[in-house]
Amino acid sequence: MSSYQLHNAGYGTDSQPVIVRGEGAYLYSDNGRRLFDAGLGAGSQILGHAHPAVVAAVQRQIADGSIYLYNNPQIHDLCQRLATLLPAPQCHYVFSNSGTEATLRALRLARAAAGRQRIACFHGGWHGMNEWTLLDDGGRFGAGITTLPDGIPQPVLDFSLLLPYNDERAFELITAHGQELAAVIIEPVQGSNPRADILHFLQRLEAECRRLGILVIHDEIITGFRLAPGGAGQYWPLQPDIVTWGKILGGGLPIGLTSCTDEVAARTFGDRHKRILTGGTFSANPLVAAASSAVLSQLASADYRHIDQLGERFRNQLNQGFKQQGLPFSAIGIGSFNRVAFTASSFRNRAERDALELPAATQSRFRQQLLELGVLWPTNGIVFTGFCHQQADIDWLCQQVLAAAAGCLISGA
Ligand SMILES: Cc1ncc(COP(=O)(O)O)c(C=O)c1O
Repeated sequence: MSSYQLHNAGYGTDSQPVIVRGEGAYLYSDNGRRLFDAGLGAGSQILGHAHPAVVAAVQRQIADGSIYLYNNPQIHDLCQRLATLLPAPQCHYVFSNSGTEATLRALRLARAAAGRQRIACFHGGWHGMNEWTLLDDGGRFGAGITTLPDGIPQPVLDFSLLLPYNDERAFELITAHGQELAAVIIEPVQGSNPRADILHFLQRLEAECRRLGILVIHDEIITGFRLAPGGAGQYWPLQPDIVTWGKILGGGLPIGLTSCTDEVAARTFGDRHKRILTGGTFSANPLVAAASSAVLSQLASADYRHIDQLGERFRNQLNQGFKQQGLPFSAIGIGSFNRVAFTASSFRNRAERDALELPAATQSRFRQQLLELGVLWPTNGIVFTGFCHQQADIDWLCQQVLAAAAGCLISGA
């Protein structure tokens, strides 16, 4: 057998099962185990794995070819659906193949529109493998490491600015660098710290950026099609200039979408003095478009109260259980977007969370115990409720989480 090493983060670790199939809320391992997928495909499978409508759409389309590189009806059908579901100002679309690419396109558009170079992003945020936003590595190499990951050139620092999240000092920094900043990119709800009480901060950010001529980019790659079909910008009264979408939109196939307002489009695509690069071999391909349209047709008639109530049930049951059993954990989140923090204390942002949480070894024991109990707990810690779940699934999950939380505190467990 030939020898090789796989370097995709999270793949190929010995302690992880090998998954051969997914259906609904579950993944199945090569040794026949059924495992509850608490992360639902990093949040992409809001309908559940292998949803019949998505499978049928992909099977139909692939038989007719998956890539044409010419205009095709599938992509226009998808655009029509997007125009119905997304907040109306977000009516210009650029397709790509991942969330990372969507955020790269968004920063390029913002720089071209604003005629400025520098970009600000928030500590605790995640915008994918996008160099301009990797000043914070998302804690992947351990909390508190402040150097750039290797392979990212130092000059990136000159064009990026890291802001503290959910912290007034962010506005001082934005004001101090106001003349250089093209845009501030932010997840309206951070995966590292999903919370419902962030609207005021987001509104203040919008107001400060407007005042200084800085564009606001919402990274809705998790929140899009999740907080509401049109994401946080529909759930809340917010008016970002540019928005990025992905994950759920692809129905399990790779996709990225960058949208912007008429005003941004006029300052970029509509300005005859500017040349804006878009495109790519697989961008706007009919196969992904068909899968996306199948997802959106399901979501257009979906009752989001179902997944929101399940999320609330998850958080309430866990917080009650943690308190009753005196366990130093808490469940936080908004709607169907959840996280279990390894501390009972409240925190404002990821920096505070990192200082409070139990050690990494305990967190790893927690995930290992859950695996033994039949739950795949995502390493990024973000837990989603989806349309493939019923109350009984969430109640069962809560019981397993409480058992693992108690178990992982016993040293050597
Ligand atoms: C908020 C956010 N933005 C961007 C990305 C990057 O998306 P992708 O992994 O598809 O490149 C992610 C991925 O988890 C994300 O959560």
